[in-house]
Amino acid sequence: MSWQATVLTLFPEMFPGPLGLSLAGRALDGGVWSCATHDLRQHGLGRHRAVDDTPFGGGAGMVIRADVADAALSAIDAPRDMPRVFLTPRGYPLRQKDVSRYAQGPGVVLMCGRFEGVDERVLKAHSVEQVSIGDYVLSGGETAALVLLDACVRLLPGVMGSDASGIEESFSDGLLEYPHYTRPATWQGQDVPEVLLSGNHAAIAAWRQKQAEEITRERRPDLWSAWLARREKNEAAAGVSGKVRQTGV
Ligand code: 6GU
Repeated sequence: MSWQATVLTLFPEMFPGPLGLSLAGRALDGGVWSCATHDLRQHGLGRHRAVDDTPFGGGAGMVIRADVADAALSAIDAPRDMPRVFLTPRGYPLRQKDVSRYAQGPGVVLMCGRFEGVDERVLKAHSVEQVSIGDYVLSGGETAALVLLDACVRLLPGVMGSDASGIEESFSDGLLEYPHYTRPATWQGQDVPEVLLSGNHAAIAAWRQKQAEEITRERRPDLWSAWLARREKNEAAAGVSGKVRQTGV
C-alpha cells in the first residue's frame, strides 16, 4: 500500500502544487504516495456554505466551526491509526523525528486552517495533533502542509535513491551540516579549504566535524546545547573524560 496524504482545505487547488514536480512528483506519478484533497467548503452551512463564525469571548478574526470540521473529518475514510494533524502556528514544533514517525506510518490526514483557527473541541474529539513549522505566521496552513508532506515523502522507500544523504545531512545527528565546495578549486580569488584537496579522509572528516560544531554553536545555540549535553552523557556512559577527548589522547 502506498503512503496516503489526505488534505482538508478550503483551497484544494494548492495540492500537490510544488510536490507534483521533481523528486516528490516522480514518486507521486510512480504511486509511492498519493495526495487526495477534501474541500472543507463542501461541509459549509447554508446558502453561502459558511465554514466559520465569530469567536466566543470576542476578539479578532473568525473560527472554523466544530460541526463543519467534524463533518469533514468524519467524511474521510482513513484508518484509525493514521495521524490527524492540524497545521497551526500554535502547534508543537515539527521536528525531523515527527516527520520520520509520519513517514513510517500509513500516511497523514492534514487539516489546514485559515482565519484564527478551528474550534478546539473538534480537535480533541478527533485526537488531532497540532503542529507548527516555525516561529512565524503564514496566511494559512496549506503551505505548512506542503512543507510537512515534502519532508515525509523524501523519506519514503525508493524516493531518495541509495546515496548517504539520508544519514549525513543536517539534524540526523543533531548538528547542522558542514559547508560544501566543488570545482573550480579557485573562484574569484577564493580557494577551497586545502584539506578538502588533500585526499586525507581522516583529516577531511575531522575538519567537517569541527565545521559542523562551529556552525551549530554560532547559528543554533539551542541545538548546540542539546548536542553538548548528549555528548556529555554518552562519554560518561563510555567512561571517557572531557580531558581525554580535548587532548585527543
Ligand atoms: Cl502550521 N500555520 C500557519 N498559518 N502559520 C504557521 C504555521 C502553520 N507554522 C508556522 N507558522
